[in-house]
Amino acid sequence: MVKIIFLGHAGFLIEGSKRIVIDPFLTGNSTAKHKPEDINADLIMVSHGHGDHFGDTLSIAKQSGGTVVSVHELAVFCSSKGVDAHGMHIGGSHIFDGVKIKLTPAWHGSGYGEKSPLEYLGTPCGFVFNLDGQTIYHSGDTGLFGDMELIGRLNKIDIAMIPIGDNYTMGPEDALEAVKMLKPGLVIPMHYNTFPLIEQDPYKFKLDVEKDTKSKVAVMNPGESLEI
Ligand code: NI
Ligand code: MN
Repeated sequence: MVKIIFLGHAGFLIEGSKRIVIDPFLTGNSTAKHKPEDINADLIMVSHGHGDHFGDTLSIAKQSGGTVVSVHELAVFCSSKGVDAHGMHIGGSHIFDGVKIKLTPAWHGSGYGEKSPLEYLGTPCGFVFNLDGQTIYHSGDTGLFGDMELIGRLNKIDIAMIPIGDNYTMGPEDALEAVKMLKPGLVIPMHYNTFPLIEQDPYKFKLDVEKDTKSKVAVMNPGESLEI
């Protein structure tokens, strides 16, 4: 049994035998119900350097003593800020005290900060990981890509967290195509309705996915949780 808590935007806290936080964007996120002080995690998985994903990574890693897991460049940046970090790269996997994590590709950017030129923290990534028997795919920010078929074929995905917000990532139509390739048991849409540019109707997405595929969709509001 794992508990999945939606932190808002692309952020999740997953509690089982380990506590895992992904893309903890809380400070400055008006939809978030959690504060960074509330989050303690053994592993902090960060998909890329953009502020709406890197977010409160450093403060959460410092207070909880958890390890940041990401691509090498982002991990080196975190190490330079004094937190524990483990660098990997696309296609590589590693077992962290029983939790197997593999990095997957993502078509996106990874510039950190707000002043041009942005500091580049390597390539963006997604994650396939297994916690307590549940296989979870968090795509990070990405457009649709055909190798999602490979990710779906090589992993029996229980839960897929994929963006539907459009503009910066897949929109709902491409996300439906992603579901057809990934074939997850459950889809949790993310990266929408945090600000006006990425407004979407997740209930229409749910109808379309459940009509065209065997996957179910769980629409989660920030702060809500589910157990599987
Ligand atoms: Ni991004
Ligand atoms: Mn983003």
